[in-house]
Amino acid sequence: MASVTFPVALIRSLPELLVNQIAAGEVVERPASALKELLENSLDAGARSIAVDLVEGGVRRLRVVDDGCGIEPEDLPLALARFATSKIATLEDLERAATLGFRGEALASIGAVARLAIVSRRPSEHHAWRIACEAGVVSAPEPAALAAGTTVEVEDLYFNTPARRKFLKSEATEFARCDEAFARIALSRPQVAFSLAHNGRRSSHLPPEDARARVGRLVGEDFAGSAIDVRSESARLRLEGLVAAPGFTRATRDAQFLFVNGRFVRDKVAGHAIREAYADVLHHDRHPAYVLFLEIDPALVDVNVHPAKSEVRFRESNAVHQFVFHALSRALAAPMAKTGDRPPVPLGGPAVPSGGTGGLSPVFSQASLAVAQPSAAYETLFSTAVADERRLASPAPDAPPALGYALAQLHGVYILAQNAAGLVIVDMHAAHERIVYEGLKEALDAAVLPSQPLLVPIAMTATPEEVEAAGAGRAELESLGFDVAAGGPRELVIRAVPSLLADLDGAGLLRSVLSEMREFGASRVLLERRNELLSTLACHGAVRANRSLTVPEMNALLRQMEQTERAGSCNHGRPTWVQFAMADLDRLFLRGR
Ligand SMILES: Nc1ncnc2c1ncn2[C@@H]1O[C@H](COP(=O)(O)OP(=O)(O)OP(=O)(O)O)[C@@H](O)[C@H]1O
Ligand SMILES: [Mg+2]
Repeated sequence: MASVTFPVALIRSLPELLVNQIAAGEVVERPASALKELLENSLDAGARSIAVDLVEGGVRRLRVVDDGCGIEPEDLPLALARFATSKIATLEDLERAATLGFRGEALASIGAVARLAIVSRRPSEHHAWRIACEAGVVSAPEPAALAAGTTVEVEDLYFNTPARRKFLKSEATEFARCDEAFARIALSRPQVAFSLAHNGRRSSHLPPEDARARVGRLVGEDFAGSAIDVRSESARLRLEGLVAAPGFTRATRDAQFLFVNGRFVRDKVAGHAIREAYADVLHHDRHPAYVLFLEIDPALVDVNVHPAKSEVRFRESNAVHQFVFHALSRALAAPMAKTGDRPPVPLGGPAVPSGGTGGLSPVFSQASLAVAQPSAAYETLFSTAVADERRLASPAPDAPPALGYALAQLHGVYILAQNAAGLVIVDMHAAHERIVYEGLKEALDAAVLPSQPLLVPIAMTATPEEVEAAGAGRAELESLGFDVAAGGPRELVIRAVPSLLADLDGAGLLRSVLSEMREFGASRVLLERRNELLSTLACHGAVRANRSLTVPEMNALLRQMEQTERAGSCNHGRPTWVQFAMADLDRLFLRGR
């Protein structure tokens, strides 16, 4: 029997430096990702004030100075070691991690591809200690000078991995990315002071402030001044924040910030729910702007999905989708939700909270930071909002109507009305279109979707996943008007379709419904298609421009608007009314100067 000879072993353990460099590929893709990691460490350490200093887009130098709890001198070498962390100790801790960091690899990864130095001082120490790491080689800790907290300095990112360095973009681009990462973190903690400097010039200075003020500085004063407050809470979920009024949406997606337990994430489930909630008030090529904080029991969300921790996975994504959708729909449905190209001033002026941090107590605890802080900061903001909502919902019996009384019609297009704040201008057709549309929807919502049997059933090829989803979701499909059965492992047979949508491509419709049901637990595709149809009907049914209305007719329209959900914008997202306050008019005529 021929003997088999094996070649020398081909599998070997990689040296630690290389392991860390591989990890760095995912964790520190560019200066902005290193900055994000350092800022998260400072927040986890309970910092109240954080200063960032960048040189050459953060590639040459990136320094973060915080006033957090500091690191024990004997822990310094561990802070630079891979898989060493103070934030979790067991699998249970991992499953309930409330800190931003928990993998214990960020500093080790940065140290493998840059020159890294940490100076840190615990309050109990007589002086600070410094430790350095260059391309994975860690120096012994030595005494250093620092009043308190931790300073981390990263120099010459990727100096020892030139291939990687080539992927870095221009200084301006890398700085812009850093600025973005900085803004996301700063948005998530309005009560923490932040500053940012680039090449010695200060580009941002944020004092501790309330949430709306922070949003104003970072996302734009126009957004903060006109946004609608969202606040919704269930037993296990809470959603708070600011969303753009339908008239203030944008041409790009650049102002969309979702934080889950204080962490900025890109999440498909919540993102889809947000888009759906806007579907009824948004023109299709516009994008909503929002700053939303979703808080959820950490045990119900997996944050350990990706090394950069920019994605999460919800254990019950259906529940999250439903919750976010309903919270936003409710906020957007308020009849007088602000709208318009210029901010209309609601009666009594916009709800802008007074300054200050709203009596926040800066409690330091690594375990509860991520979840506890944002909500507290939003407390002041939303107490005003809730009060406002109540005023809209149940006006005092003798309160003057929000949109006032009609004065005249302008060129058959606009209604001019006078209310307590000043002049109101209403786009007659747009307003009526919304009223008709909401009425049609309400009438149909009360009924189940009727089903229409097909004379010739449609057989469609399907993936095994689709066949399974159709079987599992049979009851829901029936409630939507579909009768579907499996015709084989890769075939579905459609025997009935929703009658209102009978003219549409049944197989295509079913496919979208099934994919939504799989991904988000429920389907809104049908509702959307139905609403599209109703919206077209409404447009044709609404009063056309150039029809003259009597004053009582105009007043009737104003009263109907006040009673109609989403009356602030028409079905295409255009505003239906704008307010000119007396002060605005006075300014036009230079009165009182
Ligand atoms: N600014 C800081 N202030 C106080 N301690 C810090 C600071 N930065 C880092 N540390 C300590 O160093 C440890 C290692 O930090 P590192 O960022 O590498 O890992 P981590 O934050 O625990 O997890 P992750 O890799 O997910 O960020 C932390 O667990 C923390 O104890
Ligand atoms: Mg960290």
